[in-house]
Amino acid sequence: MARIAVVAGDGIGPEVVAQALKVLDAVHPGIETTRYDLGAARYHRTGEVLPDAVLTELAGHDAILLGAVGDPSVPPGVLERGLLLKLRFAFDQYVNLRPSRLWPGVPGPLANVKPGEVDLVVVREGTEGLYAGAGGVLHRDTPAEVATEESLNTRHGVERVVRDAFARAARRERRKVTLVHKTNVLTHAGSLWARAFEAVAAEHPDVTTEYQHVDAAAMFLVTQPQRYDVVVTDNLFGDILTDIAAAVTGGIGLAASGSINPDGTYPSMFEPVHGSAPDIAGKGLADPVAAVLSAALLLDQLGDADAAARVTAAVAVELANRTPGVPLRTEEVGDRLAAHAVA
Ligand code: NAD
Ligand code: IPM
Ligand code: MN
Repeated sequence: MARIAVVAGDGIGPEVVAQALKVLDAVHPGIETTRYDLGAARYHRTGEVLPDAVLTELAGHDAILLGAVGDPSVPPGVLERGLLLKLRFAFDQYVNLRPSRLWPGVPGPLANVKPGEVDLVVVREGTEGLYAGAGGVLHRDTPAEVATEESLNTRHGVERVVRDAFARAARRERRKVTLVHKTNVLTHAGSLWARAFEAVAAEHPDVTTEYQHVDAAAMFLVTQPQRYDVVVTDNLFGDILTDIAAAVTGGIGLAASGSINPDGTYPSMFEPVHGSAPDIAGKGLADPVAAVLSAALLLDQLGDADAAARVTAAVAVELANRTPGVPLRTEEVGDRLAAHAVA
């Protein structure tokens, strides 16, 4: 029996995770879930963000389902770095997988894009880059203050995520990988990425390759998202590009992700791309589809492709039947998805 750790977190995190659990239970009954109370409330109550003992317990699970972390009452970074990034780093979740597709029935913002035409996946590096935390501040709170934030890129770290992107592309219909970076300015890291990309590409003559600077990629994601199949990029570029990809395919409420440790040494973590949405938290207005599709990625990783496909099909039914302009209720969407998934 699969053992899943649940970190619902802050804001809309618990609201959308409850729906994901409802759907999981419908399609794959008997999953053993353990809830971990982590996030703003625990931080205020005890000062703890992620105690070592909890990290050790989490490591013993088959996977983690996470809602969202971050709250306006907590200084920025405390929970984002201390909890979310700590988990991604400690569990070596170097593949941050972020699929985007334009579902039939979803009113995308782009007039020239039809449903079915966008089906891309961003393979975002998850453990390095500007997220590594290298850098510091000198002369804080003086006019001479200097802050540095360094991007860490290792050949090992880059090559393994590029390799994962090519392996995924090789299994897809279009078999194309786009490397996104900024080699014209970030000449140190950019060169490392470009050389690692070339080396792995040489092992995959069947996969088409292209390179784009990140500014151009941001533009093309908005003007022609259809052109992408697999995109591989560094941690920060991937963070930004996946919010854009979400926006052009119907919004952040639909965007799922997996923070994956492909080696299986540590648990992978499945989480919506969105955050805790303090502006709508507690109102029952959050779209749980992103969390539910993240649960489908979790089912895939557990090896239950059939249940994953049923969840995806339920989402397709839900999205095809929405009336634009009518506000959704989180719980009702969860109920409908659970019902469709077992129908
Ligand atoms: P956000 O994703 O929380 O919200 C951005 C906008 O999208 C808001 O208007 C919000 O209402 C809307 N939105 C988000 N999810 C939605 C959903 N499921 N349904 C409907 N609308 C939704 O991003 P933000 O406002 O930049 O950040 C808020 C907090 O969340 C911050 O503390 C941030 O650090 C944190 N954050 C956490 C994660 C994570 O845990 N994975 C991701 C992003 C941001
Ligand atoms: C995301 C979030 C996180 C990130 C933050 C909250 C650390 O924006 O999952 O996209 O930047 O990776
Ligand atoms: Mn983000």
